[in-house]
Amino acid sequence: MARSTEQLSPELHAYLVTHSSPVDPVLTALAAETLRRYPDSAEMQIGPEQGTFMTLLTRLSGARRGLEIGTFTGYSSICIARGLADGGQLICCDVSEEWTSLARAYWDRAGVADRVELRLGPALDTLRALPAQAAFDLAFIDADKGGYIGYWDEVVPRMKPGGAVLVDNTFSGGRVVDAGNREARVQAIRDFNDHAAADDRVDLVMLPVGDGLTLARRRQGGRG
Ligand SMILES: C[S@@+](CC[C@H](N)C(=O)[O-])C[C@H]1O[C@@H](n2cnc3c(N)ncnc32)[C@H](O)[C@@H]1O
Repeated sequence: MARSTEQLSPELHAYLVTHSSPVDPVLTALAAETLRRYPDSAEMQIGPEQGTFMTLLTRLSGARRGLEIGTFTGYSSICIARGLADGGQLICCDVSEEWTSLARAYWDRAGVADRVELRLGPALDTLRALPAQAAFDLAFIDADKGGYIGYWDEVVPRMKPGGAVLVDNTFSGGRVVDAGNREARVQAIRDFNDHAAADDRVDLVMLPVGDGLTLARRRQGGRG
């Protein structure tokens, strides 16, 4: 039987973080300031190893045009923006003026402000207002969980063939496999995971990174 993915003990998690590329001081400062100012919301931020993975993936893919749905205080957007090819642009969608004002400050500090464009408002409206053609190389979905299927359905047709879509929290804290759990946000993730897995426009894999990170690649010549 093939070996399944290792369970991460706290010690193994700490070990993998210390044996990955070091997280730079700007991201560390952003994580600390987010925790200090928004202690009840800070856990929404992606972790350092996920951020490093997303920068590497963005760089490896040669992505130039990126899209983020759910920006909060900016951690993941900085990780993506830093990986974009020269002249790259990242459109960030969020509804919170307050949280994204901290993101703006850190885009400056990280030296990526010139490649990030924030669009404030419900992300579904922002996505529908984008041109319909396939223009994006990489997208990251990490906003309200009940909106995931709607975001996916707007994002996938706008991805170039070969483009990558990342979707966060697809384990929902492991609760997706707890049949007794009927929480709406957990059911929304289950529904999304079923929807994405059945979508023949993409190849995808669920990765045990953070709280579950789905990585999809739009097929060449796929429909949509
Ligand atoms: C999980 S947080 C994003 C975390 C961020 N990716 C990071 O790593 O720091 C979710 C974000 O989605 C935003 N959000 C919630 N509902 C939204 C909607 N309908 N449209 C756009 N953004 C929304 C919230 O304001 C919040 O900033």
